[in-house]
This record gives sequence, structure tokens and C-alpha cells, in this order.
Amino acid sequence: MTVNEAHLIYFSPTHTSKQVGEAIVCGTGIKNVIPVDLTLQMAEKTVIPASSLAIIVVPVYGGHVAPLAMERLENICGLDTPTVLVVVYGNRAYEKALIELDTFAIPHGFKIIAGATFIGEHSYSTDKNPIAQGRPDDMDLNLANEFGSKIMEKIQAAISPDKLYQVDIRAIRRPAQPFFALLRFLWKVIKLRKSDTPLPRTPWVEEESLCTHCGLCVTRCPAGAIIKGDELHTDADKCIKCCACVKCCNKNARVYDTPFAALLADCFKKQKLPQTIL
Ligand SMILES: Cc1cc2nc3c(=O)[nH]c(=O)nc-3n(C[C@H](O)[C@H](O)[C@H](O)COP(=O)(O)O)c2cc1C
Ligand code: SF4
Ligand code: SF4
Repeated sequence: MTVNEAHLIYFSPTHTSKQVGEAIVCGTGIKNVIPVDLTLQMAEKTVIPASSLAIIVVPVYGGHVAPLAMERLENICGLDTPTVLVVVYGNRAYEKALIELDTFAIPHGFKIIAGATFIGEHSYSTDKNPIAQGRPDDMDLNLANEFGSKIMEKIQAAISPDKLYQVDIRAIRRPAQPFFALLRFLWKVIKLRKSDTPLPRTPWVEEESLCTHCGLCVTRCPAGAIIKGDELHTDADKCIKCCACVKCCNKNARVYDTPFAALLADCFKKQKLPQTIL
């Protein structure tokens, strides 16, 4: 069997999912790559043919597929399209996310031929509270590239499409999680919730004089929560706390200093490894 193009579909406010997806598609060796970037907008109604390979990459928020990603996938469907499902998470856990993506993909005409979980720098990570800082790193990207080439080998070795399907994503290995670190995290979360410490609903501009009103955060915000000319204000009802605005602000004017960052940095130091299933 063969495929003559790839659709790389992703939602990626802080670019880690995009990086992983690009490394996978690069590993397949497919030259004709059609990027479908859902970060800033809904895709046009798109039907991906069976002659294309679909690679869907989304970040994990609270153990689920980021809700805005799920919403923006809605216009896309396949026609028995061979598909790779990937979730990217910040070294804590991905819980139900991969299964949710599978539950979306199958009735939308995608045939799952492979799946993976990768680690990306946590959106809340800072120099003070590093969480999976710098990931995906070279090792992750090499693994993503190798995964891409294995996907291609699998497609080429299949004598008919039905030999490729249906990979059971639930059988993917979960990465090892040190038990006491998890227990410490749960205990600290309970303590934090009981303490009534206010949790910020959005990033904010700490030092107003640093903001040059360049508008970069406006154009990078996936949710339309910041308005040009009013960059010091963030609409809490729209904000998804993705931290794209924090990471893109080269004046360091925007911060998201949530108490969760210190907890995550303390309890999830041990770096998890990507897992794949083919
Ligand atoms: C609101 C929110 C919730 C998150 N929840 C989780 C989580 O449950 N588990 C985890 O390991 N990482 C979690 N993360 C971290 C992201 O999954 C991780 O940083 C991912 O690499 C972001 O993808 P992107 O760079 O493509 O935006 C969360 C991030 C945000 C913004
Ligand atoms: S990116 Fe930073 S400097 Fe530019 S408008 Fe936004 S907060 Fe201000
Ligand atoms: S304002 Fe909220 S939704 Fe918009 S980029 Fe910043 S964190 Fe993300």
C-alpha cells in the first residue's frame, strides 16, 4: 500500500504539539504535507481521502484533549483515512486524552493505524518552576522521527488497507509514575484547594511599563481573549490558560504565576518517556 500525501492536523498554542507532529511527518518521508493548523481558527470543512495519511496532534489539558482543540476538530473527517493519533502532555499525565481522541476519530471516518503519547514543556513552566523544560528535546524529536519512518514501513508492508487497521489505542503502555511523588502531588493539591488560595483565571501584565502594546499576544491568543489596543486586560471568560501569550511576549510583560506550577515542578521531576503503538 502507499499514501501520496499527509495531512498534519494540530492545535498547538505553545508549539510543542506542532514540533512533535512535524518530526513524525518528516520521519515518514512524505513530501506533500498539508498542514491544518487549528490553533487560531476552526478548519474549513475538510474531507481527507484514503490516499492521504492523517496525523492528528493535540495537547492534554486536565487529563483531557484541550477542549478548544476538540471543538476545532469537528469540521474535519476522513474517508477510511489511515490515521495516527498523538497527544502531547506536560510530564504529569494524559489520563483520558488519547481515548477521547480515538472516540472522536473513529466515527469521523478515520482508521487508526498508530498512536503515541509525547511530552512537551508544560505551559505553566518557568525558569523558577521548570516542568519538562525544553521538551520535546532532541531525544523526543528523534523518537518522533523514527516513529514516522515505522509508520511508513507499516503502510508499505500492508498488502491491503484492512491489514493496517484497527490499532487498539487503549493497549499503549502508560509511562511509569513514581508512586510517592504522585501521592505528594495529590496531598498538596488537596491542601491548596482547602487553603482557599486564589487561583489566577488568566495570565496578567505584572509590570505595565514593560508592555509596548506590540500586539503579538493578541495575534497568538487562540481564544480571542486579548484585544488589540487593550493588551493589559484579558477576558477571563474566553481565556483557556494556554500561556501562548506569556511565552510569546519577548518583553516578559505577561506572567502566569499559578501555585500549581510549583507543585508540578516539585512532584513531576522525573522525566517521562514517549510511548508509541503501531
Ligand atoms: C490548562 C492546561 C492544562 C494542562 N493539563 C495538563 C495535564 O493534565 N497533564 C499534563 O501532563 N500536562 C498538562 N498541561 C500541559 C500541556 O499538556 C503541555 O504543556 C503541552 O505540551 C502543551 O502543548 P502545546 O505546546 O502544543 O500548546 C496543561 C496545560 C494547560 C495550559
Ligand atoms: S506581547 Fe507583551 S509587550 Fe506585546 S502587547 Fe502583549 S503583553 Fe504587551
Ligand atoms: S489570554 Fe488566555 S487563551 Fe489567550 S493566549 Fe493568553 S493564556 Fe492563552
